[in-house]
Amino acid sequence: MSGGDAAIATESAVADDFAGDVVRGLSQPVKRIPSKYLYDARGSELFEAICEQPEYYPTRTELAILDDHRHAIAAAVGSRPLVLEYGSGSGIKTRLLLDALDDPVAYVPVEISASALDESVADLAVRFPDVEMLPLCADFTRPLRLPVAAREPASVLVFFPGSTLGNFATDDAVALLTVMRGEIGDAGAALVGIDLQKDRATVEAAYNDAAGVTAAFTLNLLARMNRELDADFDPARFHHRARYNALAGRIETHIVSDADQRVSVAGRRFDFGAGEGVLVEYSCKYSHQGFADMAARAGLAVTQSWTDGDERFALQLLRPRGVPA
Ligand code: AVJ
Repeated sequence: MSGGDAAIATESAVADDFAGDVVRGLSQPVKRIPSKYLYDARGSELFEAICEQPEYYPTRTELAILDDHRHAIAAAVGSRPLVLEYGSGSGIKTRLLLDALDDPVAYVPVEISASALDESVADLAVRFPDVEMLPLCADFTRPLRLPVAAREPASVLVFFPGSTLGNFATDDAVALLTVMRGEIGDAGAALVGIDLQKDRATVEAAYNDAAGVTAAFTLNLLARMNRELDADFDPARFHHRARYNALAGRIETHIVSDADQRVSVAGRRFDFGAGEGVLVEYSCKYSHQGFADMAARAGLAVTQSWTDGDERFALQLLRPRGVPA
């Protein structure tokens, strides 16, 4: 089966309710919009560009960790894993991992966007002819029906790189880790990329790049609402703000109104005060202990951890707690 025309299994009830989520979010006393809506075609393109900015250290740091510790990671995972990736993958990280692992039997990217799924497996199918490509169109925050691979896997490895977990508030992250615990069973493991807590200047620079790519990424949400929800935001009258909340250990990104203004969205009117912000993204930064505590709440233990020399980022290997090796 070639990647381009691989059948994509689709689970029901995966559609997003953009209009409903925006109207609900803007009706709250503290306005907010779920961060997943930042990723339309333009947003995804801008995110790729963010990863190339000199200030945005997570992507290149995680890639270096994967590359430097490939042998140790492969040894810890064991042979014949089925690799279940949350999100359709950045291509290059997945390639590095599949290349390092010992005889992976199948690759299952899970993603709501069918087009992103298609793209991600097309290239991998050519590079890894012995790895069965089983893309799954589904919401990974809910339990999945795993496709059955032609060759029997020895274990399931969930791969969740990029510190995407950091977009979830703590309770939601614990819920997601709990779902992950269910997917991997007693023999499996999860390899999760997390951004580590560090000095404010480094973190804030990563979300306020000098070229303004992150600002464009955030404000693109206004253009998306104008286009898809018949809204009339004037992007010139809002700005991007990303600040590190050191107490909570996270970047909080807002779209901030420059003036008192009224905007119409999906047939409703919303008032914005000068300086009022709409929360559009959390990017949590973890301590090793904080992350281990969170994992424990989900029935998982950190059994190994790989970091870069500057302890900026970590790849954590999680296994079910209390299951003898
Ligand atoms: C892909 C969600 C991990 O939070 O660092 C980058 C997204 N937002 N710059 C992150 C993002 C602004 C990124 N994640």
